[in-house]
Amino acid sequence: MPIRSHVAGVGGYLPRRIVTNDELAQTMDTSDEWIAGRTGIRQRHIAGPDETAAMMATAAARGALADAGVEGSAVDAVFLATTTPDQQFPATAVRVQAELGCGGFGMDLSAACSGFVFALAAADAMIRQGAVRTALVIGTEVYSRILDWTDRGTAVLFGDGAGAMLLRAGPEDGRGILSTHLHSDGKYGDLLYIDGAVGQRDKPGHLRMNGREVFRHAVVKLAEAVDEALAANGLTHADVDWLVPHQANKRIIDAMGRKLALPPERVVVTVDRHANTSAASIPLALWEARADGRIRDGELVVLEALGGGLTWGSALLRL
Ligand code: ACO
Repeated sequence: MPIRSHVAGVGGYLPRRIVTNDELAQTMDTSDEWIAGRTGIRQRHIAGPDETAAMMATAAARGALADAGVEGSAVDAVFLATTTPDQQFPATAVRVQAELGCGGFGMDLSAACSGFVFALAAADAMIRQGAVRTALVIGTEVYSRILDWTDRGTAVLFGDGAGAMLLRAGPEDGRGILSTHLHSDGKYGDLLYIDGAVGQRDKPGHLRMNGREVFRHAVVKLAEAVDEALAANGLTHADVDWLVPHQANKRIIDAMGRKLALPPERVVVTVDRHANTSAASIPLALWEARADGRIRDGELVVLEALGGGLTWGSALLRL
């Protein structure tokens, strides 16, 4: 009997402090009208000193465990996506592993805004292969610490937070992760990157982006990735119940919803309140839509993301 990864629980954590567009406009040459009009973003959560990538990841993972009714000790792998770890090593995943008393192993993955889809693919592959039975898949980001707060073109776009999903091995019964589809193309590496690194003593680095080019690639590549996922499962747009996209920009999200011919109420949107939380945005959106009862068991959900790399991908799951 083939093994499949079933979604047992979802959790999230958002920093306490909310910063509105109007607050940003007090220190930056920008406006609520510009930010909301171009991106749909109205506010973002910004982490305080105690709200580290590991702390937020642990809180989100606790929520996923509670949702599933599973103890941390039952987890045998932690796959954590982040490009804003608190330390270069040890991996943030092993900090979470220690906090929650998980067994097995933990590892971090770096795929920028696509990170959650990449971590989900890695966890799903190891569960299918029988190497892991219960896995936490986490996206956690503190982009506020890598933004250039003098660059209005990027500083207004991002927020902090963490989301987590608990996967458990189960039978092939049409539920769980149906397939994942990953892509990257390093020749676009200079469209979205951090201009420094740990070890470059004077240059820890800030996020830099060619927003217009990233936008152009996003609309085309995300549509291809969604069609690829549906075709791999012999499904069509009409089978999709929910789109839970990476939350970068409302205009990209709306374009994807239209491609799938989904009514707006079937597309989960958090970018207005969370801004772009990179690898955390998909699990945060899924958490919200599950917690408020919108997404129900048995429904078909499409996940898609594109980010620095460029990296992009999709996943199809039935809750
Ligand atoms: N407030 C006011 N004006 C601004 C701001 C701001 N915060 N930022 C830029 N501007 C100005 C620019 O200076 C420029 O002025 P100018 O015409 O006088 O030179 C003007 O607005 C237009 O700037 P553009 O960068 O060309 O604006 P654009 O329409 O491309 O919108 C945006 C920028 C919102 C970033 C858009 O390109 C976009 O959404 N791109 C997608 C990229 C994205 O979302 N990336 C997130 C990470 S990747 C991912 O997650 C998919």
